[in-house]
Amino acid sequence: MKTAIITGASSGLGEAFVRQIGSLFPEIEEYWLIARRAEKLGALTVDGVKLRVLPLDLTSEDYLPALQEHLARSAPAVSLLINCAGCGYLGNFHESELSEQFRMLDLNIRALSAVTHAVLPFMPDGGKIINISSIASFVPNVRMTVYSATKAYVSFFSRGLHEELKPRRISVTAVCPGPMATEFIQKGRIKGHSRTFDVLPYCDPEKVVKGALRAAKKGRAVYTPHPFYKFYRVISKLIPQAILLHAAKT
Ligand SMILES: NC(=O)c1ccc[n+]([C@@H]2O[C@H](COP(=O)([O-])OP(=O)(O)OC[C@H]3O[C@@H](n4cnc5c(N)ncnc54)[C@H](OP(=O)(O)O)[C@@H]3O)[C@@H](O)[C@H]2O)c1
Repeated sequence: MKTAIITGASSGLGEAFVRQIGSLFPEIEEYWLIARRAEKLGALTVDGVKLRVLPLDLTSEDYLPALQEHLARSAPAVSLLINCAGCGYLGNFHESELSEQFRMLDLNIRALSAVTHAVLPFMPDGGKIINISSIASFVPNVRMTVYSATKAYVSFFSRGLHEELKPRRISVTAVCPGPMATEFIQKGRIKGHSRTFDVLPYCDPEKVVKGALRAAKKGRAVYTPHPFYKFYRVISKLIPQAILLHAAKT
């Protein structure tokens, strides 16, 4: 059965993906929804699409064998994988809880890589992968140092994999949004504690998702929403990081 797998489907960008996938990928018959909050996933409905709720903690020991078992048992044709689950915390590294820093590594890097690795054998040629990165991947963000490093990984990983998978015509699109008014902002203790986040233009999650799905459909390697951040991406390649670091301080 033609299937989409979406991590982080219980809120924010992931939930918006669930609502919008059908507009560009109407042939997909089933969505597998992954996040911890089963009740939020269970409340989602999409006309004409079967939804399978997989309440998994992607930072736990046991999510990977569980996902592998679901895949082996159902043998879906995963034509679309969206790695959206992610977290980010504001604060100086040396003053933070190490467990929180490790959560970013486990979710944003390890889980994204492991889910992709588990799913790829079930992805037919021509499949699409969307990995949610961030503008934080362009320049190190002081006070969100580990977060921006994890997103640099996501962008590099996506770019490399996009090339590796060309013989199978599988595209990997790194999506690099700026700030969005989702739970991420509260959970990361960002609102009211970062002047940069207070002044930067916010991206509309619905528009980000629409653009990301279009970019994936076209097989693009990178998609940066919003003209301001498209410009930022270009200057981040032209101006030395030592200068941009000050502007990118969160
Ligand atoms: N919002 C922004 O300003 C912003 C900017 C750039 C990039 N991003 C990126 O956008 C992506 C989506 O974030 P969002 O803005 O939509 O924030 P969000 O509303 O907080 O969504 C995060 C999603 O990840 C899931 N998640 C968190 N921890 C998990 C775990 N241990 N296991 C499984 N799922 C987990 C959450 O579900 P449960 O809590 O139910 O597990 C939720 O569905 C992230 O990768 C984030 O880094 C966000």
